[in-house]
Amino acid sequence: MKYVINGGNKLFGKVNIDSAKNSILPIIAATIMCDEECVIRDLPLYLDVIEMVAILEKLGKKVEFQGNNLIISGEISSTSVIMAETKTLRSSIFMMGSILSKYRKAIFTYPGGCDIGKRPIDIHLDGLKKLGIKFTFANDLIYCDGNKIAGNNIELSFPSVGATENIMMASTLIEGEITVIKNCAREPEIVDLANFINSMGGKVFGAGYETIVVFGVKKLHGTNYKCIADRIATGTYLIAGAMCQGRIEACNVNPNYLLPLIVFLRNSGCKVDLFSDKIVLENFSRPKSIAKIETQTYPGFPTDMQSLILAMQTISKGNSIIHETVFEARFKVVSELQKMGAKINVSERYATIVGTSKLKPAFVSCPDLRGGAGLVLATLSAKGKSVVDEIFHIERGYYKFDENLKSLGANIEKVE
Ligand code: UD1
Repeated sequence: MKYVINGGNKLFGKVNIDSAKNSILPIIAATIMCDEECVIRDLPLYLDVIEMVAILEKLGKKVEFQGNNLIISGEISSTSVIMAETKTLRSSIFMMGSILSKYRKAIFTYPGGCDIGKRPIDIHLDGLKKLGIKFTFANDLIYCDGNKIAGNNIELSFPSVGATENIMMASTLIEGEITVIKNCAREPEIVDLANFINSMGGKVFGAGYETIVVFGVKKLHGTNYKCIADRIATGTYLIAGAMCQGRIEACNVNPNYLLPLIVFLRNSGCKVDLFSDKIVLENFSRPKSIAKIETQTYPGFPTDMQSLILAMQTISKGNSIIHETVFEARFKVVSELQKMGAKINVSERYATIVGTSKLKPAFVSCPDLRGGAGLVLATLSAKGKSVVDEIFHIERGYYKFDENLKSLGANIEKVE
């Protein structure tokens, strides 16, 4: 599938932001710890979510969609997570923590995912080992034995989002034991997962801070939950407004989760107004370049927004340096942006961008999820007809992206 985009339109209107992909995926994994009915309300059908649900169903959980709500119930019948989907979906690794917590044994393949650099799972495994889980590796499989699982004090060598979530889940059902996790990632989606677990009767405290304490409980009960809004999708629509000019209202969002982007957009010359549950961006001139942007773990500038602001810097006035500190291969979109006339030079983890007043339309191809979204924004801002190919990458983490952009006035069609 491709998008055919006739760029150059200004964008005006409201977008209701869907639930966060990075909340939904670990939360779906967490439902494995509960046999009773869990309802996840208003679920956007990102391709990653569809795959995660497919894995859950193959493991034996009963899964049903009622309107936009996902209803999950029953027990898994297998603890072997070795189906084809796990090769493409990195988030399948979240099931390691939840399966071990409840069933104390599991077999996993190494997870796949977006090609944005090496994505090892050593921090996950080191933390789980501290909980007494034993791993053996054979034939590309990871055999996990949690018979001696127990609470412990764990200090992560890096605040990995996935490792924090996995260890949090693994310790949830160690009845009567206390697990202290230090140097945790603090992303809002981690708080969302903790809130979900606690809504089932779990006892996870401190999520959103550097230290999380989990008091193990015996059993979890059913719940009915709605995840927080997707901060990266929010940022994507706001940056679209900044690049194409116009006025965008991103609704149902918590501005507190987007502060680095809001500061960035204001410094770029955009008018950004904050409300309790929405962000309104207005921009009618060429944005100014930001001299230096460095991606960081939360609450720093999110790496997931890096490709989007990279696209914006290519048409901004002035020079900019982007330093990607989280993932080592997150500049794959550069060669595609260069086809549009972008002036970018990459050296290791730094991209130097000389802003040009206009990009030219081109045939480009998505290298990964956020890079793909960055290309859509670049082509929307470039007057004339562009094609963005391989959009399945985008659909892994954006729902009704073309329809939302169309409702804002973009000329975009999805074609075979
Ligand atoms: C999550 C997000 C992803 C986001 C990333 C960083 C989900 C589903 N995905 O991914 O969108 O880009 O956080 O905000 O929530 N690392 C190791 N060893 C490990 C684990 C991680 O070296 O065991 C490294 C990674 O290679 C990477 C860095 O740590 O360089 C950050 O990874 P991590 O925070 O774990 O990201 P994910 O949980 O994979």
